[in-house]
Amino acid sequence: MSRIVIVDGGPRRAWNTAQMLEKVAEGALGATADRRSTPEVVPGAAGEAVGAGAAGEAVGVPGAAGEAVGAGAADEIVVEQFRLYDLDFKGCVSCFACKRVGARLERCALLDGLTPLLDAVADCDGLVIGSPIYLSEVTGLTRAFLERLCFPYLSYDKKPSSFPKRIKTGFVYTANAPEDAYGEIGYWDLFRRNGELLERLFGKSSWVLASETWQFDDYEKYASGMFDAAQRAERHATVFPQDLQRAFELGAWLLA
Ligand SMILES: Cc1cc2nc3c(=O)[nH]c(=O)nc-3n(C[C@H](O)[C@H](O)[C@H](O)COP(=O)(O)O)c2cc1C
Repeated sequence: MSRIVIVDGGPRRAWNTAQMLEKVAEGALGATADRRSTPEVVPGAAGEAVGAGAAGEAVGVPGAAGEAVGAGAADEIVVEQFRLYDLDFKGCVSCFACKRVGARLERCALLDGLTPLLDAVADCDGLVIGSPIYLSEVTGLTRAFLERLCFPYLSYDKKPSSFPKRIKTGFVYTANAPEDAYGEIGYWDLFRRNGELLERLFGKSSWVLASETWQFDDYEKYASGMFDAAQRAERHATVFPQDLQRAFELGAWLLA
């Protein structure tokens, strides 16, 4: 069995970031079909929400925080999805338990609402983190999660990472700003830095982006004169589906 962990670092349940991550889940589960040698039908699950569901595939319905989806035979894929905004946790508290001489921690020593997610990552074969861009960074909760996830594996000793194996990882970003501004405002740098951090600690990393996202259900209800609502609607209809497709491909790449 292969385990994929998907972490939603945005607060809005059904918006851009969540939709991109649904596609990652679909892509990961879709990859199952190609890999399975002994197909097994999961009753009632085939073809539901994730859309990866021709009969005989191992499919799951992405669920609530930490809910495992998919079935569990040897060649199957389980996708576990977590929403950081549903979890009660802090960022790193600088206890340095993970840096004590002889420490053999499998994950961060601080026990709170993040612990089940950190345990899931410790046991996973692929990890994708999604976040909207807030004030030119990932969200505060995503940042706090990265501190708790990464610092324990970041060795102060000789080897660069204490994570016990190499897995593929990915980042999904969604942002309002147009891409031609990203050099100047540092987003490409942010994506590169996060990618390098994940590569150093876990293994090969990739990222996908949806820019100039659809921000409001109705632009007329919001004081948003700097945006061209018609252009955004057009982009949402024509470009966002391509972004979703790239998210799907990221999911499929994780176990390829
Ligand atoms: C608090 C806040 C700060 C934001 N800051 C930025 C920003 O610095 N750059 C940007 O491109 N978009 C920014 N945005 C827009 C979001 O990144 C964008 O709408 C994103 O797609 C929202 O994701 P969601 O639809 O999954 O909630 C901000 C939105 C909020 C609510």
